[in-house]
Amino acid sequence: MSEAVHLQRATPDAAPLLRNLLELYVHDLSAIFPVEIGPDGRFGYERLALYWSEPATRHAFVIRRGERVAGFALATRGSPATDDPADLDVAEFFVLRAHRRAGVGRDAAFALWDGMPGRWIVRVSEANRAGLAFWREVVRAYTSGRFGESARPALPGWRILSFTTRAAAARSGGDA
Ligand SMILES: CC(C)(COP(=O)(O)OP(=O)(O)OC[C@H]1O[C@@H](n2cnc3c(N)ncnc32)[C@H](O)[C@@H]1OP(=O)(O)O)[C@@H](O)C(=O)NCCC(=O)NCCS
Repeated sequence: MSEAVHLQRATPDAAPLLRNLLELYVHDLSAIFPVEIGPDGRFGYERLALYWSEPATRHAFVIRRGERVAGFALATRGSPATDDPADLDVAEFFVLRAHRRAGVGRDAAFALWDGMPGRWIVRVSEANRAGLAFWREVVRAYTSGRFGESARPALPGWRILSFTTRAAAARSGGDA
């Protein structure tokens, strides 16, 4: 069986799957951020429904490794870190623990960026040491080092990585 990593665009019938994966993701991140679980034992993720009601600006994908569910990626058109509404933003990104350190996140991120050409923003908290190491390495590899990294006074404690995808850079004859 092929172990190839691919992104599957999430249709509304994948909402329960994503809702469950988001619980695991938020629980992981609760080691870093102060997130309270609800009285029903769930963290919840209210914005999930917007990924189908606002399809022009929100994109949800299930990450599959072969046929198996390996994680998810949520992306938005427009980033909280920039003013350009055309910028693409990695809103949430998660690989299940059983699939980590096998290149799944790297392959999924490459597929995400290849599939949606443009200028991308990746926001990552300095407190998320694994996430920061991951994004720095994967963005560096994807762009051959042609990316920007900055901090924003409005987002203390966060690093902002930005770059233009290979396809978009080739079209405009430029780069990040
Ligand atoms: C961060 C995350 C997506 C990485 O997924 P992954 O599939 O394990 O990543 P990959 O195997 O593709 O890693 C690619 C490279 O990133 C770096 N990297 C990945 N995880 C790392 C870690 N825990 N510590 C240090 N570097 C890491 C390494 O350079 C790695 O290459 P290597 O394994 O050959 O050394 C995953 O750990 C995760 O879902 N974490 C919880 C949610 C999260 O933090 N998401 C990001 C929010 S900003």
